[in-house]
Amino acid sequence: MIETLILKGDAVELIDQRILPLAFETVRCSNADEMAQAIRDMVVRGAPAIGVAAAYGYALEAQLHSTASTPSFLSAMEVAAECLLNSRPTAVNLAWAVKRMQAVQAQHLPVGIAACAQALLSEAISLHQQDIRINQTMGQHGAALLPDGARVLTHCNAGALATAGYGTALGVIRAAVESGKRIAVFADETRPFLQGARLTAWELMQDRIPVTLITDNMSGYLMARGEIDAVVVGTDRVTANGDVVNKIGTYMVAVLAQRHNIPFYVACPVSTLDLNTPTGAEVPIEERSAQEVLGFAGVRWAPEGVAVRNPAFDVTPAALVTAIITERGIVHQPDRAGIARLMQSL
Ligand code: MRU
Repeated sequence: MIETLILKGDAVELIDQRILPLAFETVRCSNADEMAQAIRDMVVRGAPAIGVAAAYGYALEAQLHSTASTPSFLSAMEVAAECLLNSRPTAVNLAWAVKRMQAVQAQHLPVGIAACAQALLSEAISLHQQDIRINQTMGQHGAALLPDGARVLTHCNAGALATAGYGTALGVIRAAVESGKRIAVFADETRPFLQGARLTAWELMQDRIPVTLITDNMSGYLMARGEIDAVVVGTDRVTANGDVVNKIGTYMVAVLAQRHNIPFYVACPVSTLDLNTPTGAEVPIEERSAQEVLGFAGVRWAPEGVAVRNPAFDVTPAALVTAIITERGIVHQPDRAGIARLMQSL
């Protein structure tokens, strides 16, 4: 299995997703600041993966201050939390993971700083392992929705590389394949960062799952010809009303899917559901550097001085979503009541 992030001694090694598949290299992070930088630069990306990465960043920082006095430990950890929370704004998993680490810290502080730092490291490791198990369970739920022989379109990369392992959308596809179904995937290229062309195509090829790469403007043509049976994507945040915030271009795919009566499925862990944000309109959408649109890997194709917009995510209204697949089960035609019921389950 692809190991997006690995704890090695006093650091975490991340697969450098900026250069895949042309090169396979890793980046070492040994404190919160280095981890926040890696998240911002998209060395590691994808909502669940940046949640686990932030938890490790926080835990590694705690290790560095494990012999400090309580006040200086607390102030260092506050700076660490701020720095990680500010690295990327859209995926709620990052804030979820940092809050969870802060709760573990508050719980263990009375037993001493060294023990507290140790508890934080154990928590990060357990979040890492849990994420893989969650994805496998989610995959089993979602696999039942895909018929044998399905041709499935996905957008961006919601695979092992976007999680601690196995993937959300690609986890559903993997589970369907593991259950013996023949599944063929169409991967949207996903401009401008090319997560589909570089990461999804590479990841599926590693697993020998049939994948065909298309550019983002080809899916309508294929849908109109009856060549796509289902869409499965991941998400960075699902709001209380069931709106889905995901990689820029997802909304376009959802509108097309509805036009052609193709089911549009979203796979995510429950930690991606955000009951505190009423609708997609309130979610902060990250705007990234113009350089990502002007060219790629040092090659520039747009004229000097042209104006650029680069929103990294968009909002798919709940009404366009056929079902949300989670580790706790499936919410069909998601709405406020369905999302609330899922959060209350267990
Ligand atoms: O900008 P990215 O590459 O971090 O965006 C990733 C996505 O939009 C994914 O679809 C989402 O995080 C779900 S990943 C399981």
